[in-house]
Amino acid sequence: MLFEPILICGMEVPNRFVRSATHEWMAGPDGTPTERIGDLYEELAKNETGIIITGYAYVDPRGKSDHLQLGIYDDRFIGEYRKMVSRVHRYNSRIVLQVAHGGRQTMISPEAPYAFAPSAVTEKTKGITPEEMSGEEVLETIENFASAIRRGREAGFDAVQLHCAHGFLLSNFISPYTNRRKDRWGGSTEKRTQVIVDIINRAREMVGHDYPIMVKLNATDGFPEGSKKNALDAPESIEIAKILAVNGVCAIEVSGGIAEAGDELFRTQIDSQEKEAYYKRYSKLIKEAVDVPVILVGGIRSRAVMEKLLEEGYTDMISLCRPFIAEPDLVVKIRKGEIDVVKCVSCNLCSDSSGIKCNYDFGD
Ligand SMILES: Cc1cc2nc3c(=O)[nH]c(=O)nc-3n(C[C@H](O)[C@H](O)[C@H](O)COP(=O)(O)O)c2cc1C
Repeated sequence: MLFEPILICGMEVPNRFVRSATHEWMAGPDGTPTERIGDLYEELAKNETGIIITGYAYVDPRGKSDHLQLGIYDDRFIGEYRKMVSRVHRYNSRIVLQVAHGGRQTMISPEAPYAFAPSAVTEKTKGITPEEMSGEEVLETIENFASAIRRGREAGFDAVQLHCAHGFLLSNFISPYTNRRKDRWGGSTEKRTQVIVDIINRAREMVGHDYPIMVKLNATDGFPEGSKKNALDAPESIEIAKILAVNGVCAIEVSGGIAEAGDELFRTQIDSQEKEAYYKRYSKLIKEAVDVPVILVGGIRSRAVMEKLLEEGYTDMISLCRPFIAEPDLVVKIRKGEIDVVKCVSCNLCSDSSGIKCNYDFGD
């Protein structure tokens, strides 16, 4: 099944492999896409990666989360993205733009002197208390996300993915821990999901109904079970996935974790098949609840586990981040039967602010 094609809202994908969104620390200081990122994506495309999802691109300079992060807040970027997209389209890969806003995990800078989020809940890793967004600011942010989707389409991306995971703005909205609002965008599960639905509806006015809009969704905030009573987890996250699917989301990538929950979202020491695919319980529940393709990410490392996940209905696609940093040609190697397990040891040394690369010493 790994090499069977799949259709996502009309987007034909040649196999089941996804390069999950990966911040590269390779964009220009203002978010401009660079040739260096294009080189990386071309390398992944040349090596048969079914879908390449870009690093998260900020939709508003006030929502930038890290240095040298991609930006998509202005039409001036469209031309550069178009070049990047056309390099990938020389091969049979699809390329998807991930769009994001930092929310309570925004990097404080002259452009973003304070973080803003659905509610003023202190972010404990940085000790920053975000400002609660006014209704006006929420509406402005909806417009910014929709415009980013329009730019993605104009640049030729095959689809756009809304980053609704990992403690950034849209993940702040869906979590009862970080969203204490009592207006249109807070309260019940439906209301906490409403901002994403509003973005999709506004984007549809700009890009029409055929353009694929995907999401990366936190199925859990990732705190140890029971340690934070109002954190997001199943079964509520399954309800959120259902709301998104009926509102026109084309595929759901299942992830989890926010910064405050520790390095949960990129776990280390994945040295046995049992430790792989650490969000599979959630993806199975979501796959049973929705009729759009589900993509699972998080610690998937061996061919045997990949095949099992597909065959046993845990997911429709296999998404990897760190393994592609160590081995951009892993899809070809798996297809040719050259490897059973990827090389990546999940040490996280690839999170390198001089540009992602595998920094593990394999001694060879
Ligand atoms: C260096 C690095 C950058 C990342 N950047 C992003 C990003 O831009 N957007 C996103 O949704 N996830 C990002 N992630 C999370 C990954 O996409 C993925 O969810 C996580 O690493 C687990 O998958 P893995 O075990 O295959 O690495 C990043 C992870 C790493 C290690």
